[in-house]
Amino acid sequence: MSELNYHARERLQIGIFMPSVSHSPNISHYKSDPDDWTFATNKKIALAAEAAGFDFLFPISRWRTIGGAIDFHGKSLETMTWAAALLACTQRIQIFSTVHVPVFNPVVAAKMGATLDHVSNGRWGINIVSGWNRKEFDMMGIEMLEHENRYRRSEDFIKVLKGLWTEPLGTFNFKSEYYTVRDGYCAPQPIADPHPPIVNAGTSSDARDMVARICDWAFICPMSFDDAEELARDFKARAARHGRHVRIVSMAQPIWAAQAADAHAERDRVVAEMDKEALRHWAAGANMESESFNQQTLETFCYGSGAMPLLGTANDVAEQIAEFYHRGVDGVLMSYMDFVKDTVRFGEDIIPLLKRMNVL
Ligand SMILES: Cc1cc2nc3c(=O)[nH]c(=O)nc-3n(C[C@H](O)[C@H](O)[C@H](O)COP(=O)(O)O)c2cc1C
Repeated sequence: MSELNYHARERLQIGIFMPSVSHSPNISHYKSDPDDWTFATNKKIALAAEAAGFDFLFPISRWRTIGGAIDFHGKSLETMTWAAALLACTQRIQIFSTVHVPVFNPVVAAKMGATLDHVSNGRWGINIVSGWNRKEFDMMGIEMLEHENRYRRSEDFIKVLKGLWTEPLGTFNFKSEYYTVRDGYCAPQPIADPHPPIVNAGTSSDARDMVARICDWAFICPMSFDDAEELARDFKARAARHGRHVRIVSMAQPIWAAQAADAHAERDRVVAEMDKEALRHWAAGANMESESFNQQTLETFCYGSGAMPLLGTANDVAEQIAEFYHRGVDGVLMSYMDFVKDTVRFGEDIIPLLKRMNVL
């Protein structure tokens, strides 16, 4: 059996990379929106996504601005509380929070997560960020660990979450270099079975090994379909060695128009008006501290913060999304030029095509 068939194939999952931060997603002056982070906008997108049939919403978590001329990510909503509010006003869609491991005690994060799971009747999930943005941690007086140790600590963090969420109350004990839990107790435990889904977004070798051992989903930022296929194959092969299955979700940013040339022109405009100062700030942090984005150039990173461009007519875009699926990717996390409008348009123009293609 090939690694891709290791698990019976589910239909493609589609999600939105929400503007929980300002100026999302393009690092550009072109159509840059300083007010897209507001809760009113996030709520509109969430309700439109749920009505259109999207599967999940995913936030960006930031503790301080990236800066630059547009003040990229200058305003942001904290994502545990953001998820609580959105889960309370939706019915069906799954919503994630993003947790920076160095900032949270895992017992507190487990309790907050169990609360969000109960608020939503099992619709909440967690994205684990090991930490790469040194300025954020300097602000809190938190020392950043070496890359390998960051992931060792993240793995311990996840073990504590799982222990508290699944072991009989008062019986979970844990001791490592990073965390100590005695007679761990988290009641109520989550409704989600066996526990809320645990995501990691990173493709370094340390990240891939941790995902294989202990996470449920891996979010990737490929440069091409070949790249996506290779990443999906590798993540799944590593997980299979532990007798596990992981879902792979790729970042992408579609633009579709009646004339394909108009979609390409829109992307070119984003790149032509890039905010070089903000990009340099980001690249300085990301290139030094993360391995996932080191293939990106300022040009590819400026469009959708590194999301793969999917451009053309509605049919072209649907075919490109289907191609992800046929290459072994299980989900697509999308950002848009105009989140509210494009979420509705995606439901009208693209979802019916994906259904006809038997991908959704
Ligand atoms: C889809 C996606 C979402 C991410 N979301 C965040 C985020 O909200 N906040 C953050 O600080 N880092 C975020 N990251 C960065 C990753 O968590 C990770 O730290 C980075 O990719 C470096 O990983 P590496 O050191 O394993 O290469 C995201 C990455 C991806 C691919």
